[in-house]
Amino acid sequence: MNHSDYKNRTVAVTGGAGLIGSFVAEELLQRGARVIVIDDFSKGLRSNIEAIKSDIELREGDLESAAFARAALAGAEVVFHLASRAYGVGYSANHHLETMLHNEQVNNSVLAAIAEHRPGHVLAASSSCVYRDDGPDTMREVAVFEGEPEMANWGYGWAKRFLEQKLQVLVRERSIQVAIVRPFNIFGERSRWVGGYSGAIPMLVKRILDGEDPVVVWGSGRQRRNYLHAHDCARIMVELVARRYSDSPVNIGTEDTISVADLVESICRISGHSPRIEFDLSKPEGRFIKSADSTRLRAALGDYPVKTVPLEEGLRRMLGWYQVNFGDGN
Ligand SMILES: NC(=O)c1ccc[n+]([C@@H]2O[C@H](COP(=O)([O-])OP(=O)(O)OC[C@H]3O[C@@H](n4cnc5c(N)ncnc54)[C@H](O)[C@@H]3O)[C@@H](O)[C@H]2O)c1
Repeated sequence: MNHSDYKNRTVAVTGGAGLIGSFVAEELLQRGARVIVIDDFSKGLRSNIEAIKSDIELREGDLESAAFARAALAGAEVVFHLASRAYGVGYSANHHLETMLHNEQVNNSVLAAIAEHRPGHVLAASSSCVYRDDGPDTMREVAVFEGEPEMANWGYGWAKRFLEQKLQVLVRERSIQVAIVRPFNIFGERSRWVGGYSGAIPMLVKRILDGEDPVVVWGSGRQRRNYLHAHDCARIMVELVARRYSDSPVNIGTEDTISVADLVESICRISGHSPRIEFDLSKPEGRFIKSADSTRLRAALGDYPVKTVPLEEGLRRMLGWYQVNFGDGN
């Protein structure tokens, strides 16, 4: 499938009202696809698909139900499987079992539907959480059934490992082309604000804009992460399928990292706030450095650009979005 081959093809996006999924849906529409968005709005927002609602078909329901998944994926020639329960570490750390069981249930339903309908190509979102905490700083796409996944996201990481393994079986038994991607830290406007359960960037943006003082940051602040805007993550996913990528799992992230302290400083500077920053060493900060080895991604994408939204611009977009949607204490 080349760039234009999405034209008039029916493409389903599970989790299509979510952060990454809504950008995937937009990118697919721009490339001429007929897009089916499947979501239960448990975390995704109706406002994320408001601008495209007349151009998509919305199939609303809970993918934990195998019957719903079968009906929802009917007719899809390509499937982007992005639905999952994913919150920040504040949630994951105390809900490993619940997160694992929910994601397992959704994945089982979706994979059974895929096995039945046999779309031509599937892209499934795994996660960098499949990697062990004690691996190298720059993470290569190694096999992941040795040791435990990232412990802060233990249940989530196992569900993603299981998903990857089930997909390998699906590939072998049903001859379906499958791309498995392992996104790292993806951020952007369109996140649902879920208080202490949010990911790092949404939580920090909210605290700083709400005028909290001091702003308490988990860990030393010296831990380093790589951040990619959801629009770029979505473009890459769509492009990988356009290029018929179905090789080994591929990281989506960048090798360059920023410390959490510098991230906080950037959000404060861009927003014009200057709260005191306190680092709470009693809170988990996860592994020290998370950098994405991008060798495989670069090989898969050729000269297709990975990062088109610089971090500062992404933060600006997020701050603007927060002010419009949640300003005045909404
Ligand atoms: N954002 C990141 O940093 C990141 C990193 C690694 C992996 N991922 C993975 O990428 C995918 C997309 O992530 P995101 O950040 O857009 O998450 P998100 O939470 O914004 O989107 C997930 C969507 O799935 C929907 N959903 C959840 N359970 C459902 C169910 N039972 N039935 C129907 N819909 C359901 C939610 O309502 C939401 O719209 C997920 O699989 C996630 O695990 C994300």
